[in-house]
Amino acid sequence: MRAMTSLFGMRGRELPTRPSPGTVLAQAEGLHIRLGGRSVLTDVDLAARSGEVLALVGPNGAGKSTLFGALAADLAPDRGQVSISGRPAEGWSAPELALRRAVLPQSAVLSFPFPVGEVVRMGRAPWAGTALEDEDDEAVAEAMAATEIVEFGQRPFSALSGGERARVALARVLAQRAALLLLDEPTAALDLRHQELVLRICRDRATAGDAVVVVLHDLGLAAAYADRVAVLHDGRIAAEGAPAEVFRDELLSRVYRQPVEVFPHPRSGAPVVLPKRAL
Ligand SMILES: Nc1ncnc2c1ncn2[C@@H]1O[C@H](COP(=O)(O)OP(=O)(O)OP(=O)(O)O)[C@@H](O)[C@H]1O
Ligand SMILES: [Mg+2]
Repeated sequence: MRAMTSLFGMRGRELPTRPSPGTVLAQAEGLHIRLGGRSVLTDVDLAARSGEVLALVGPNGAGKSTLFGALAADLAPDRGQVSISGRPAEGWSAPELALRRAVLPQSAVLSFPFPVGEVVRMGRAPWAGTALEDEDDEAVAEAMAATEIVEFGQRPFSALSGGERARVALARVLAQRAALLLLDEPTAALDLRHQELVLRICRDRATAGDAVVVVLHDLGLAAAYADRVAVLHDGRIAAEGAPAEVFRDELLSRVYRQPVEVFPHPRSGAPVVLPKRAL
C-alpha cells in the first residue's frame, strides 16, 4: 500500500519521477500565437531542459510572457505544439500539470488576507493526498528561508512591501517543488541583493536537476546566471545559445533599438551589457 501511494497519489494521480539531467521538460515546436488579431508569436521553437537555467529576454512587447504562458501550458497555441514532460500539454489534467510545473506569472496581482506562511503553504496544494504531502512543512520552511521571508512569516501578506510580496509569491512556487520552474520577471520589484538571491536560487534549482525558465530584463543577470538565453524580438527568437555567444552588441542594439556595448567581465569573462551613453 505504501508503494502504491508513493508512486500514485491517493486520488490515483501518477506522481512524477525525478528527471535525469538534460531531459526536455518543456518544449515548444513551431509555435504560432495570435492575440487581438495580431501575430504575437511566429514559428517559435524552444526547449527547457533539466539541469539548465534558460533566460528569456527581449524588449517590451516582444512576446516573452506569451511564450512563457505557452510553455506553462496556460495558453494554447494557434499552431504548433507545446509538450510538458514529453506529453502534449493538452494531454495533462490541471492537477497533473501542477505536480510538474510551477508558474510565477509576471506581476502576479495577489492580495491574500492571510499570513505570509499560509500563502507559501498554498504552493503545496497540488500534493494534498499524495505521499509527498509529508514534505509540506520542510518545503515551506526551505522556500521561506531561501527567499529570506521568515522574519515576516506571521504578518499578513497584504501588509508587505512590493518587493517583499514578490519574494513571498516566489516562495509559494518554490514550495511547490515542481521540476519545471517558470518565473516571469521574478526580479522586477527586487533590490540588488534579492535579485542576486533569486538568480542563485534558480541556479541551485537547476543544479538539483530542475529546468528553470526565467524572464529577465537585466541582461547582466541573464549573462551571469543563465546557461542559455533566448532573445525574443517581434514574436520570433532572434538568437538562442550561451550568453557569451548571443549577447553581441550588434544584435542587442538592433533588437532593443538602443545602442549598447558589450564587455567581458574582467574576472569571470561573462558579458556585461551597458547602453552607450554620451558622457
Ligand atoms: N490579450 C491580448 N490581446 C492583444 N494583444 C496582446 C494581448 N496580450 C498581449 N498582447 C500583445 O502581444 C505582444 C506580446 O506581449 P507579451 O506580454 O508577450 O510581451 P513581453 O515580451 O512579455 O513584454 P514585457 O517585457 O512588457 O512584459 C504585445 O505587443 C502585447 O501588446
Ligand atoms: Mg512580459
